[in-house]
Amino acid sequence: MSFRTIEWRDDKVVMIDQTRLPGEEVYCEYADYKSVAEAIRGMIIRGAPAIGVAAAMGIALGAREIIADTHESFLRQLDNVCDVMARTRPTAVNLFWAIERMKRVAAENCGGSLDQVREILKAEAIRIEEEDLELCKAIGRHGATLIPEGATILTHCNAGGLATAGYGTALGVIRAAHEGGKKIQVFADETRPWLQGARLTAWELMKDGIPVTLIADNMAGFFMKRGEITCCVVGADRIAANGDTANKIGTYSVAVLARENNIPFYVAAPTTTFDLTLASGDEIPIEERHSREVTHLQGFPVAPEGVRVRNPAFDVTPARYISGIITEKGVVTGDFLKELRTLVES
Ligand code: MRU
Repeated sequence: MSFRTIEWRDDKVVMIDQTRLPGEEVYCEYADYKSVAEAIRGMIIRGAPAIGVAAAMGIALGAREIIADTHESFLRQLDNVCDVMARTRPTAVNLFWAIERMKRVAAENCGGSLDQVREILKAEAIRIEEEDLELCKAIGRHGATLIPEGATILTHCNAGGLATAGYGTALGVIRAAHEGGKKIQVFADETRPWLQGARLTAWELMKDGIPVTLIADNMAGFFMKRGEITCCVVGADRIAANGDTANKIGTYSVAVLARENNIPFYVAAPTTTFDLTLASGDEIPIEERHSREVTHLQGFPVAPEGVRVRNPAFDVTPARYISGIITEKGVVTGDFLKELRTLVES
Protein backbone atom coordinates (compact mmCIF):
# COMPACT_ATOMS: atom_id res chain seq x y z
CA MET A 1 0.00 0.00 0.00
CA SER A 2 1.25 3.46 -0.78
CA PHE A 3 0.53 5.01 2.61
CA ARG A 4 1.24 4.18 6.26
CA THR A 5 -1.66 4.53 8.68
CA ILE A 6 0.49 4.56 11.79
CA GLU A 7 4.07 3.72 12.68
CA TRP A 8 6.65 4.07 15.43
CA ARG A 9 9.51 6.14 14.02
CA ASP A 10 12.49 7.63 15.94
CA ASP A 11 10.65 7.33 19.24
CA LYS A 12 7.64 9.19 17.91
CA VAL A 13 4.25 7.93 16.75
CA VAL A 14 3.55 8.99 13.17
CA MET A 15 0.01 8.90 11.74
CA ILE A 16 -1.58 9.95 8.49
CA ASP A 17 -4.08 12.70 9.37
CA GLN A 18 -7.44 11.20 8.36
CA THR A 19 -9.29 14.46 8.99
CA ARG A 20 -7.47 16.01 6.01
CA LEU A 21 -7.94 13.22 3.48
CA PRO A 22 -8.58 13.08 0.59
CA GLY A 23 -7.46 16.67 -0.01
CA GLU A 24 -4.08 16.49 1.70
CA GLU A 25 -1.81 13.57 2.60
CA VAL A 26 -0.25 14.89 5.78
CA TYR A 27 1.59 12.89 8.45
CA CYS A 28 1.48 14.04 12.10
CA GLU A 29 4.17 13.17 14.66
CA TYR A 30 3.42 12.66 18.34
CA ALA A 31 6.01 12.54 21.09
CA ASP A 32 3.72 12.31 24.15
CA TYR A 33 0.82 10.10 25.15
CA LYS A 34 -1.67 12.90 25.77
CA SER A 35 -1.42 14.09 22.16
CA VAL A 36 -1.94 10.51 20.94
CA ALA A 37 -5.10 10.32 23.08
CA GLU A 38 -6.21 13.64 21.59
CA ALA A 39 -5.52 12.31 18.05
CA ILE A 40 -7.75 9.29 18.73
CA ARG A 41 -10.53 11.47 20.15
CA GLY A 42 -10.22 13.95 17.26
CA MET A 43 -10.33 11.19 14.58
CA ILE A 44 -6.83 11.91 13.23
CA ILE A 45 -6.73 8.13 13.51
CA ARG A 46 -9.91 6.05 13.58
CA GLY A 47 -11.21 2.57 12.87
CA ALA A 48 -11.23 -0.09 15.60
CA PRO A 49 -7.93 -1.92 14.98
CA ALA A 50 -6.03 1.31 14.19
CA ILE A 51 -7.29 2.84 17.43
CA GLY A 52 -5.95 -0.22 19.27
CA VAL A 53 -2.51 0.19 17.70
CA ALA A 54 -2.51 3.94 18.45
CA ALA A 55 -3.44 3.32 22.10
CA ALA A 56 -0.63 0.75 22.47
CA MET A 57 1.92 3.13 20.92
CA GLY A 58 0.56 5.98 23.06
CA ILE A 59 1.07 3.87 26.18
CA ALA A 60 4.63 3.07 25.07
CA LEU A 61 5.26 6.83 24.75
CA GLY A 62 3.63 7.38 28.15
CA ALA A 63 5.98 4.81 29.69
CA ARG A 64 8.93 6.93 28.53
CA GLU A 65 7.42 10.05 30.13
CA ILE A 66 7.03 8.45 33.57
CA ILE A 67 9.52 9.43 36.26
CA ALA A 68 9.55 6.77 38.97
CA ASP A 69 11.85 5.42 41.70
CA THR A 70 10.12 2.10 42.08
CA HIS A 71 8.33 -0.41 39.90
CA GLU A 72 5.15 0.10 41.96
CA SER A 73 5.19 3.81 41.25
CA PHE A 74 5.89 3.12 37.55
CA LEU A 75 2.97 0.71 37.24
CA ARG A 76 0.66 3.11 39.12
CA GLN A 77 1.54 5.95 36.75
CA LEU A 78 1.21 3.62 33.74
CA ASP A 79 -2.35 2.86 34.93
CA ASN A 80 -3.06 6.60 34.75
CA VAL A 81 -1.71 6.73 31.19
CA CYS A 82 -3.98 3.79 30.31
CA ASP A 83 -6.98 5.54 31.89
CA VAL A 84 -6.41 8.57 29.64
CA MET A 85 -6.34 6.26 26.58
CA ALA A 86 -9.47 4.42 27.74
CA ARG A 87 -11.44 7.68 27.91
CA THR A 88 -10.92 8.52 24.23
CA ARG A 89 -13.60 6.49 22.42
CA PRO A 90 -15.94 3.99 24.07
CA THR A 91 -17.25 1.65 21.35
CA ALA A 92 -14.31 -0.05 19.61
CA VAL A 93 -13.23 -2.86 21.91
CA ASN A 94 -9.78 -3.10 20.28
CA LEU A 95 -8.83 0.00 22.29
CA PHE A 96 -9.51 -1.77 25.61
CA TRP A 97 -7.99 -5.02 24.34
CA ALA A 98 -4.73 -3.20 23.50
CA ILE A 99 -4.69 -1.36 26.83
CA GLU A 100 -5.11 -4.63 28.77
CA ARG A 101 -2.35 -6.29 26.73
CA MET A 102 0.07 -3.42 27.41
CA LYS A 103 -0.77 -3.44 31.14
CA ARG A 104 -0.22 -7.20 31.33
CA VAL A 105 3.14 -7.00 29.55
CA ALA A 106 4.26 -4.20 31.89
CA ALA A 107 3.26 -6.18 34.99
CA GLU A 108 4.88 -9.39 33.74
CA ASN A 109 8.18 -7.69 32.91
CA CYS A 110 8.70 -5.50 35.92
CA GLY A 111 11.68 -7.56 37.11
CA GLY A 112 14.38 -5.65 35.20
CA SER A 113 15.24 -1.96 35.05
CA LEU A 114 12.55 0.56 34.17
CA ASP A 115 14.38 1.33 30.94
CA GLN A 116 14.10 -2.34 30.01
CA VAL A 117 10.35 -2.26 30.72
CA ARG A 118 10.01 0.84 28.54
CA GLU A 119 11.79 -0.96 25.67
CA ILE A 120 9.60 -4.05 26.11
CA LEU A 121 6.45 -1.88 25.95
CA LYS A 122 7.67 -0.18 22.78
CA ALA A 123 8.39 -3.59 21.20
CA GLU A 124 4.95 -4.85 22.24
CA ALA A 125 3.20 -1.86 20.63
CA ILE A 126 5.11 -2.44 17.39
CA ARG A 127 4.22 -6.15 17.62
CA ILE A 128 0.50 -5.28 17.94
CA GLU A 129 0.81 -3.21 14.75
CA GLU A 130 2.62 -6.00 12.87
CA GLU A 131 0.17 -8.64 14.07
CA ASP A 132 -2.81 -6.56 12.99
CA LEU A 133 -1.44 -6.40 9.45
CA GLU A 134 -1.12 -10.20 9.42
CA LEU A 135 -4.65 -10.62 10.83
CA CYS A 136 -6.05 -8.43 8.06
CA LYS A 137 -4.25 -10.42 5.37
CA ALA A 138 -5.64 -13.68 6.81
CA ILE A 139 -9.15 -12.15 6.92
CA GLY A 140 -8.66 -11.21 3.28
CA ARG A 141 -7.67 -14.76 2.31
CA HIS A 142 -10.70 -16.31 4.03
CA GLY A 143 -13.14 -13.64 2.88
CA ALA A 144 -12.06 -13.66 -0.77
CA THR A 145 -13.48 -17.18 -1.15
CA LEU A 146 -16.96 -15.74 -0.52
CA ILE A 147 -16.72 -13.15 -3.28
CA PRO A 148 -17.97 -14.36 -6.67
CA GLU A 149 -16.28 -13.43 -9.94
CA GLY A 150 -17.80 -10.21 -11.28
CA ALA A 151 -19.26 -9.23 -7.88
CA THR A 152 -20.39 -5.74 -6.94
CA ILE A 153 -19.70 -5.35 -3.22
CA LEU A 154 -21.35 -2.70 -1.10
CA THR A 155 -19.39 -1.44 1.90
CA HIS A 156 -20.18 1.11 4.57
CA CYS A 157 -17.75 3.44 6.36
CA ASN A 158 -14.04 2.70 6.02
CA ALA A 159 -12.80 -0.69 7.19
CA GLY A 160 -9.66 -0.41 5.11
CA GLY A 161 -5.95 0.08 5.46
CA LEU A 162 -6.69 3.43 7.08
CA ALA A 163 -8.78 1.77 9.81
CA THR A 164 -6.16 -0.88 10.60
CA ALA A 165 -2.38 -1.26 10.59
CA GLY A 166 -2.80 -1.69 6.82
CA TYR A 167 -4.71 -3.78 4.24
CA GLY A 168 -8.05 -3.56 6.10
CA THR A 169 -10.77 -5.96 7.19
CA ALA A 170 -13.76 -5.43 4.86
CA LEU A 171 -11.44 -3.80 2.33
CA GLY A 172 -8.93 -6.58 3.03
CA VAL A 173 -11.49 -9.05 1.70
CA ILE A 174 -12.01 -6.83 -1.33
CA ARG A 175 -8.25 -6.34 -1.84
CA ALA A 176 -7.60 -10.09 -1.63
CA ALA A 177 -10.36 -10.85 -4.16
CA HIS A 178 -8.95 -8.19 -6.49
CA GLU A 179 -5.36 -9.41 -6.05
CA GLY A 180 -6.61 -12.94 -6.75
CA GLY A 181 -7.64 -11.77 -10.20
CA LYS A 182 -11.40 -11.49 -9.70
CA LYS A 183 -13.08 -8.72 -11.66
CA ILE A 184 -14.96 -6.99 -8.89
CA GLN A 185 -16.21 -3.51 -8.14
CA VAL A 186 -17.16 -1.70 -4.96
CA PHE A 187 -20.08 0.55 -4.10
CA ALA A 188 -19.01 2.78 -1.21
CA ASP A 189 -21.68 4.42 0.99
CA GLU A 190 -20.59 7.98 1.67
CA THR A 191 -21.24 7.43 5.43
CA ARG A 192 -22.70 10.58 6.88
CA PRO A 193 -21.93 12.46 8.98
CA TRP A 194 -18.17 11.98 8.97
CA LEU A 195 -17.91 10.77 5.36
CA GLN A 196 -15.49 7.88 5.95
CA GLY A 197 -16.84 6.21 2.78
CA ALA A 198 -16.51 9.24 0.52
CA ARG A 199 -13.29 10.64 1.92
CA LEU A 200 -11.38 7.50 2.93
CA THR A 201 -12.74 4.32 1.29
CA ALA A 202 -13.02 5.90 -2.15
CA TRP A 203 -9.52 7.40 -1.72
CA GLU A 204 -7.74 4.20 -0.74
CA LEU A 205 -9.53 2.00 -3.30
CA MET A 206 -8.77 4.44 -6.11
CA LYS A 207 -5.13 4.53 -4.99
CA ASP A 208 -5.04 0.71 -5.39
CA GLY A 209 -6.83 0.76 -8.75
CA ILE A 210 -9.89 -1.10 -7.42
CA PRO A 211 -13.04 0.11 -9.24
CA VAL A 212 -15.22 2.08 -6.82
CA THR A 213 -18.50 3.94 -7.19
CA LEU A 214 -19.51 6.41 -4.50
CA ILE A 215 -23.18 6.57 -3.49
CA ALA A 216 -25.03 8.59 -0.85
CA ASP A 217 -26.19 6.49 2.09
CA ASN A 218 -29.86 6.66 1.11
CA MET A 219 -29.15 5.09 -2.31
CA ALA A 220 -28.13 1.62 -1.10
CA GLY A 221 -31.70 0.24 -1.17
CA PHE A 222 -32.24 1.56 -4.70
CA PHE A 223 -29.27 -0.39 -6.07
CA MET A 224 -30.04 -3.52 -4.06
CA LYS A 225 -33.63 -3.63 -5.32
CA ARG A 226 -32.41 -3.32 -8.92
CA GLY A 227 -30.18 -6.36 -8.45
CA GLU A 228 -26.97 -4.36 -8.80
CA ILE A 229 -25.38 -5.45 -5.48
CA THR A 230 -23.99 -9.00 -5.10
CA CYS A 231 -23.08 -8.84 -1.41
CA CYS A 232 -22.26 -6.45 1.43
CA VAL A 233 -19.02 -6.54 3.44
CA VAL A 234 -18.52 -4.23 6.43
CA GLY A 235 -16.14 -4.00 9.38
CA ALA A 236 -16.91 -4.07 13.10
CA ASP A 237 -16.09 -2.13 16.24
CA ARG A 238 -17.28 -4.72 18.75
CA ILE A 239 -18.90 -8.13 18.35
CA ALA A 240 -20.86 -9.52 21.31
CA ALA A 241 -20.94 -13.22 22.25
CA ASN A 242 -24.16 -13.82 20.28
CA GLY A 243 -22.75 -12.21 17.10
CA ASP A 244 -24.55 -8.85 17.43
CA THR A 245 -22.18 -6.36 15.83
CA ALA A 246 -21.54 -2.68 16.49
CA ASN A 247 -20.25 -0.81 13.46
CA LYS A 248 -20.53 2.65 11.97
CA ILE A 249 -23.97 4.26 12.20
CA GLY A 250 -26.03 3.18 9.19
CA THR A 251 -24.68 -0.39 9.09
CA TYR A 252 -27.92 -1.73 10.63
CA SER A 253 -29.99 -0.10 7.87
CA VAL A 254 -27.73 -1.67 5.21
CA ALA A 255 -28.14 -5.11 6.85
CA VAL A 256 -31.93 -4.85 6.97
CA LEU A 257 -32.03 -3.74 3.32
CA ALA A 258 -29.73 -6.62 2.37
CA ARG A 259 -32.05 -9.15 4.07
CA GLU A 260 -35.12 -7.65 2.35
CA ASN A 261 -33.34 -8.08 -0.99
CA ASN A 262 -31.83 -11.54 -0.31
CA ILE A 263 -28.26 -10.25 -0.47
CA PRO A 264 -25.54 -11.83 1.74
CA PHE A 265 -24.32 -9.47 4.46
CA TYR A 266 -20.83 -10.23 5.83
CA VAL A 267 -18.93 -8.71 8.74
CA ALA A 268 -15.11 -8.86 8.49
CA ALA A 269 -13.18 -8.46 11.75
CA PRO A 270 -10.23 -9.90 13.66
CA THR A 271 -11.00 -11.83 16.85
CA THR A 272 -9.51 -8.83 18.74
CA THR A 273 -12.85 -7.15 17.95
CA PHE A 274 -14.83 -9.85 19.82
CA ASP A 275 -16.13 -9.00 23.26
CA LEU A 276 -17.38 -12.29 24.61
CA THR A 277 -17.98 -10.72 28.04
CA LEU A 278 -21.10 -9.12 26.56
CA ALA A 279 -24.05 -11.45 26.03
CA SER A 280 -25.65 -9.29 23.34
CA GLY A 281 -25.25 -6.07 21.41
CA ASP A 282 -27.61 -4.28 23.82
CA GLU A 283 -24.67 -4.02 26.23
CA ILE A 284 -22.28 -2.35 23.77
CA PRO A 285 -21.59 1.29 24.75
CA ILE A 286 -22.43 3.59 21.85
CA GLU A 287 -20.46 6.80 21.43
CA GLU A 288 -22.46 9.97 20.78
CA ARG A 289 -20.41 12.69 19.13
CA HIS A 290 -20.65 16.45 18.80
CA SER A 291 -23.72 17.94 17.07
CA ARG A 292 -21.46 20.01 14.81
CA GLU A 293 -20.59 16.86 12.81
CA VAL A 294 -24.25 16.78 11.72
CA THR A 295 -24.97 20.50 11.39
CA HIS A 296 -21.82 21.34 9.43
CA LEU A 297 -20.08 19.94 6.36
CA GLN A 298 -16.37 20.81 6.12
CA GLY A 299 -17.02 23.85 8.31
CA PHE A 300 -20.11 25.07 6.43
CA PRO A 301 -23.52 25.06 8.17
CA VAL A 302 -26.10 22.77 6.54
CA ALA A 303 -28.77 23.15 9.25
CA PRO A 304 -30.38 26.08 11.07
CA GLU A 305 -28.36 27.30 14.03
CA GLY A 306 -29.60 25.95 17.34
CA VAL A 307 -31.46 22.92 15.89
CA ARG A 308 -31.61 19.92 18.24
CA VAL A 309 -29.33 17.11 17.02
CA ARG A 310 -28.59 13.48 17.90
CA ASN A 311 -25.33 12.00 16.65
CA PRO A 312 -24.73 8.35 17.61
CA ALA A 313 -21.51 7.23 15.92
CA PHE A 314 -22.37 3.50 15.83
CA ASP A 315 -25.34 1.15 15.69
CA VAL A 316 -25.77 -2.53 16.43
CA THR A 317 -26.73 -5.02 13.74
CA PRO A 318 -28.50 -8.03 15.27
CA ALA A 319 -26.76 -11.32 14.50
CA ARG A 320 -29.82 -12.64 12.61
CA TYR A 321 -29.03 -10.25 9.73
CA ILE A 322 -25.40 -11.41 9.43
CA SER A 323 -24.70 -14.16 6.88
CA GLY A 324 -21.14 -14.72 8.12
CA ILE A 325 -18.38 -13.23 10.27
CA ILE A 326 -15.03 -13.35 8.46
CA THR A 327 -12.09 -13.59 10.88
CA GLU A 328 -8.39 -14.39 10.61
CA LYS A 329 -9.20 -17.94 11.71
CA GLY A 330 -11.95 -18.59 9.20
CA VAL A 331 -15.57 -17.72 8.45
CA VAL A 332 -18.26 -18.25 11.08
CA THR A 333 -21.83 -18.84 9.95
CA GLY A 334 -24.85 -20.16 11.78
CA ASP A 335 -24.73 -20.55 15.55
CA PHE A 336 -22.60 -17.54 16.47
CA LEU A 337 -23.06 -18.08 20.21
CA LYS A 338 -21.31 -21.44 20.03
CA GLU A 339 -18.96 -20.83 17.11
CA LEU A 340 -17.45 -17.50 18.20
CA ARG A 341 -16.29 -18.98 21.50
CA THR A 342 -14.92 -22.10 19.79
CA LEU A 343 -13.04 -19.88 17.35
CA VAL A 344 -11.45 -17.75 20.07
CA GLU A 345 -10.41 -20.86 22.02
CA SER A 346 -8.94 -22.58 18.93
O1 MRU B 1 -15.86 6.33 13.84
P1 MRU B 1 -14.87 5.45 13.12
O2 MRU B 1 -14.45 6.02 11.81
O3 MRU B 1 -13.72 5.07 14.00
O4 MRU B 1 -15.68 4.12 12.81
C1 MRU B 1 -15.04 3.09 12.12
C2 MRU B 1 -15.91 1.96 11.80
O5 MRU B 1 -17.07 1.91 12.16
C3 MRU B 1 -15.27 0.81 11.06
O6 MRU B 1 -16.16 0.21 10.20
C4 MRU B 1 -14.79 -0.22 12.09
O7 MRU B 1 -13.99 0.40 13.05
C5 MRU B 1 -14.05 -1.32 11.47
S1 MRU B 1 -12.45 -0.83 10.95
C6 MRU B 1 -11.60 -2.14 10.34
